[in-house]
Amino acid sequence: MTTTIPVRLNERSYDVVVGPGVRTALPGVVDRIGARRAVVVSARPADWVPDTGVETLLLPARDGEQDKRLSTVEELCGEFARFGLTRSDVVVSCGGGTTTDVVGLAAALYHRGVAVVHLPTTLLAQVDASVGGKTAVNLPSGKNLVGAYWQPSAVLCDTDYLTTLPRREVLNGLGEIARCHFIGAPDLRGRSLPEQIAASVTLKAGIVAQDERDTGLRHLLNYGHTLGHALEITTGFALRHGEAVAIGTVFAGRLAGALGRIDQSGVDEHLAVVRHYGLPAALPDDVDAAVLVRQMYRDKKAISGLAFVLAGPRGAELVSDVPPGVVTDVLDRMPRDSLGNLVGATEAATA
Ligand code: GLY
Repeated sequence: MTTTIPVRLNERSYDVVVGPGVRTALPGVVDRIGARRAVVVSARPADWVPDTGVETLLLPARDGEQDKRLSTVEELCGEFARFGLTRSDVVVSCGGGTTTDVVGLAAALYHRGVAVVHLPTTLLAQVDASVGGKTAVNLPSGKNLVGAYWQPSAVLCDTDYLTTLPRREVLNGLGEIARCHFIGAPDLRGRSLPEQIAASVTLKAGIVAQDERDTGLRHLLNYGHTLGHALEITTGFALRHGEAVAIGTVFAGRLAGALGRIDQSGVDEHLAVVRHYGLPAALPDDVDAAVLVRQMYRDKKAISGLAFVLAGPRGAELVSDVPPGVVTDVLDRMPRDSLGNLVGATEAATA
């Protein structure tokens, strides 16, 4: 079954298409754009990339933080120019979130903006990174510090790409699907993966349509992410993004409970949802709560003290100036487990 989800942004509106085999829609998309040439940047084998229907340059990419830097953008733009790509043509990305991020930024900058189509090949990229127009690269001083909003012309989430994903990579995306439970998605437990993807994208599309530039409502997408990002950094990325967000989601439930925003059943629901998806729910043994708190002060949302997206009587919302003592207390009461067990639990749950 194929699902088409519109992202409604006036003249920058586009569709996200989810389903098996949807990559074959690419030539139709290229034709609609009116491009005469395409550059396909792919982190996947050439046979994963569908025909574009026009003269095409295929460039390799590597899905990894090490290539998510400005020099990669410069190299890509140089290749675009040598190929003779014009602003009426199209760039296509094929890969995970780091590929869609860096290729999206190159497309945003080349000739001050050329059309881009994303073919995300990981669950994380399908449910989050490829949708919504955020593009960025890292600087030595931090992640995603240089970027632009550049909406794609289409996103083709071919679920056939996911059948060969390593199990831990699937869980990486399920962390984002799990957090949707608390920011307005229906209960997706027990639904098929394509249904879960389509529902997560539908939720995100609705939020992005109301707050493209992340000035308010879009913060909701960062549910579980304040602690999640701190855990990723503090563990040197030994925890994958989705795993860290899952632990951050359990923590967000406990924090909302400690602040009297939700009752115990609401707190317990966080643990139940995260556990359902086979994701870790405890803090790694050797991570110091004080280090996590320091890291959370550096979060982009922390303009006024510690800030978290938390459930509450009005639904989830950004809560600023959360007292550090309460945060530390909730961290201290979180269950602990070894990193090996946390990641092992993830792998066992999906084996
Ligand atoms: N990944 C969060 C956002 O797109 O806003």
